[in-house]
Amino acid sequence: MNAAMAREGSPSVIYRKDYQAPRFQVPTVAMTIAIFPGYTRVSSQLQLQRSDGSVGDLCLDGESLQLEAIAIDGVDLSPDAYDYNGSQLTLKQVPASCTLQTTVIIHPEDNTSLEGLYKSRTLYCTQCEAEGFRKITFFPDRPDVLSVFTVTLEADASTCPVLLSNGNLQSTTTLDDGRHQAVWHDPWPKPSYLFALVAGDLARVDDSFVTASGREVALHIYVEAKDLAYCDHAMASLKHSMRWDETVYGLEYDLDLFNIVAVDDFNMGAMENKSLNIFNTSCVLAAPDITTDAGYQRVEAIVAHEYFHNYSGNRVTCRDWFQLSLKEGFTVFRDAEFSADMNSRGVKRVEDVTFLRTHQFAEDAGPMAHPVRPDSFIEISNFYTLTVYEKGAEVVRMLHTLLGHDDFIAGAQLYFKRHDGQAVTCDDFVTAMADASGRDLSQFRRWYAQSGTPELTIEEAYDAAQGRYTLTVRQRNGDYSEPLHIPLAVGLLENGQPKVFDNGSSTVLLEVTEAQQQFDFDNLSSRPVPSLLRGFSAPVRLKAEESSSHLQALIAGDDDDFVRWDAFQRYATQVLGQVAAGDTLDEGFFSAFGSALTAIKDPAVTAQLLALPSEEYLADLAAASGGVDVFAIRNAREQLKLAIAQRFEDRWRALFADLAITGPYEPSGPQIGARSLRHLALDYLAHLPDAAVADATALFASADNLTDRLAGLRTLVHYGHREARESALTQFFNDWHNEALVVNQWLSVQAGRPAAAACDEVAALMDHPSFDWRNPNKVRALLGAFSAGNPTGFHRTDGAGYRLLADAVIRLQASNPQIAARLCSPLTRYRRYQHGVELMRSELERIGNVEGLSRDVYEVVDRSLSQ
Ligand code: TRP
Ligand code: ZN
Repeated sequence: MNAAMAREGSPSVIYRKDYQAPRFQVPTVAMTIAIFPGYTRVSSQLQLQRSDGSVGDLCLDGESLQLEAIAIDGVDLSPDAYDYNGSQLTLKQVPASCTLQTTVIIHPEDNTSLEGLYKSRTLYCTQCEAEGFRKITFFPDRPDVLSVFTVTLEADASTCPVLLSNGNLQSTTTLDDGRHQAVWHDPWPKPSYLFALVAGDLARVDDSFVTASGREVALHIYVEAKDLAYCDHAMASLKHSMRWDETVYGLEYDLDLFNIVAVDDFNMGAMENKSLNIFNTSCVLAAPDITTDAGYQRVEAIVAHEYFHNYSGNRVTCRDWFQLSLKEGFTVFRDAEFSADMNSRGVKRVEDVTFLRTHQFAEDAGPMAHPVRPDSFIEISNFYTLTVYEKGAEVVRMLHTLLGHDDFIAGAQLYFKRHDGQAVTCDDFVTAMADASGRDLSQFRRWYAQSGTPELTIEEAYDAAQGRYTLTVRQRNGDYSEPLHIPLAVGLLENGQPKVFDNGSSTVLLEVTEAQQQFDFDNLSSRPVPSLLRGFSAPVRLKAEESSSHLQALIAGDDDDFVRWDAFQRYATQVLGQVAAGDTLDEGFFSAFGSALTAIKDPAVTAQLLALPSEEYLADLAAASGGVDVFAIRNAREQLKLAIAQRFEDRWRALFADLAITGPYEPSGPQIGARSLRHLALDYLAHLPDAAVADATALFASADNLTDRLAGLRTLVHYGHREARESALTQFFNDWHNEALVVNQWLSVQAGRPAAAACDEVAALMDHPSFDWRNPNKVRALLGAFSAGNPTGFHRTDGAGYRLLADAVIRLQASNPQIAARLCSPLTRYRRYQHGVELMRSELERIGNVEGLSRDVYEVVDRSLSQ
């Protein structure tokens, strides 16, 4: 423990091993929520049933509630019958079965944490996951208490004409004083974290969906009237998701109404509240001028993700928050497969692997490393992590790979049937998979328990006399001694061609279960080239033979999209090392690059192949082998880009010209692929002295969509001279200042400028009228993009970047603890750098010394200082 932080009353740690079943169940809840200007009154009636039938104390959660009235079975409680300390309400000698009535006052207008009931501009909305319901009323705010909710909403009819909650609308009534009321009833028992309400002045897009069994479901998307034209893509995505879940998992929607509401101020992407999904505007609105190609795909994926939660999360929920990946890992796997089916499977897989290896591997090697199923936490909000979501999804994907598609789906269906309406554990999920497939998955369960990225080392040997080829596989799991059960998909190239195995495929699945293991392949007349970890079959770091001839053979001949791409990445990484060392560069790399650049089958795939590994990914590799120098990484990478631009200048120019799209913008696969390769061409060309300014300016000026416009702008801002940069930024802002989501892009482009001055520009932008500390999208667009996406700007040697970020964290930690804690993470990895370690550490200490530091930030800072 860091001495500065070992203060009195340090937040307490919660352990998974301490789980106890709830003492009381709450079969039904009736709430009346009356919204008035400046305050809201919440009256709740909880039907309480003690699990063991005895009389005893009852403890309810309730965060900073102003208690107005409290009664049991209609009898007011005397002050000595209860105790409220600001976060827990304790009632003495409560009957085994009774009704508890409480009335509290809350202040959504003053709630800047965006958790509980809060006001986003003119809209009242809620965010209850994970523990926000306790900011609304007294309740056992834990996911294993499931209740049927009836909710009465009351508000002014002119400012809040729309009143929404979960389930079905039962009635609407006009009240006195220009007020009105709506009663909602949700027939499905649910935990409090899935409760939601919305009240405000919203416009609506209507559609409907007929389920496989012929039921008609009304689909509504609520947005501010100005955004009504931006809902088509989300609506189409919703309908595709509903059909996909019927087709692939046999799961049909279970109510007659499905609502999506868009809000500006939201801590995360979106939330799966039962039948009332609430979305960050950035994850639901889409139109060519306000959304990039990647943005369209994000909207589709997140709409699907939240919809899929209706089963994986809502119908079957988590026993406790340590099981969070039960719903998140599984649902990310489901949405990734959906996106793969809707778009290009290979491209999607490479995108996801890039993201995982760049960001989740770094998390798993840093101070916040934790198992997919954590063992302890201080603040659960800090565990909505890449490990729980993305590594969790990889763990589910490995089950899919090990069982095969049909057994996996049978396992999922057994899980949904067996546990419908229950709150269960990750173990229950694996058990259903084991039962449905008859497989022994006991060793596999360790994936949930062990943190860190496993390292897989593979050596090969060929015995020409016997025609036998042998792979020796070793696994290392950091501090853990227990080996994992790892699906290792491999292929073999014979004379440059993928060998077809007895299973009729070019892939065989090896199951690695021991610390060291050998796998033999017979009847090979020549030494093959191994194609390892096909499809990235396990979330591991792979160490294997990387001679240029191997990599060249894989790039030229492999039929696995991931392996071919990964071979290119490894090759590029080697050449970057040669650049950094001042060695002669491997000519083979350039000839492989040239071939890929001429024989283009799918532009999207080519664009992924020919993009160099990112500075962030290279940093993670460097961290694993001796320390990161962000400036050396950038220099090498920029030098190699220049060399590639020079060698292939004509080809890049031809591509930039030929890939221009003549028809109107569409976020379709072919157009997205063409744009991505065209923008890659522009990026390389920008490394030639002044050569791309004209192209970038033309692209910027003539674009009919945000993707092209932003590619032009980014090139001008990151590579152009000052005048070109400033005039493009001014024009972009003048044209789009009324579109909040586009202004976010404008902030991010500037925050990402690879220059020491970016830090001062970010500081100046914090005072710009379009910036807003209360809006997480703005904070992420500016400070997140700077600290997590601009390594050389952020790691400016005088420490100004660190100071800027620490100031922002200190400013936000009390008003929005969740966002402040997330913002910290670039500082918390200070140990992996060659420079700036002391400067970063002292900024963390400065944050740690803040009086009354929020639990969220405390946990992150404490873990990183005491690692
Ligand atoms: N369950 C949400 C999801 O779909 C995550 C989420 C939304 C969340 N808002 C949140 C988590 C606020 C913590 C706090 O993944
Ligand atoms: Zn989710």
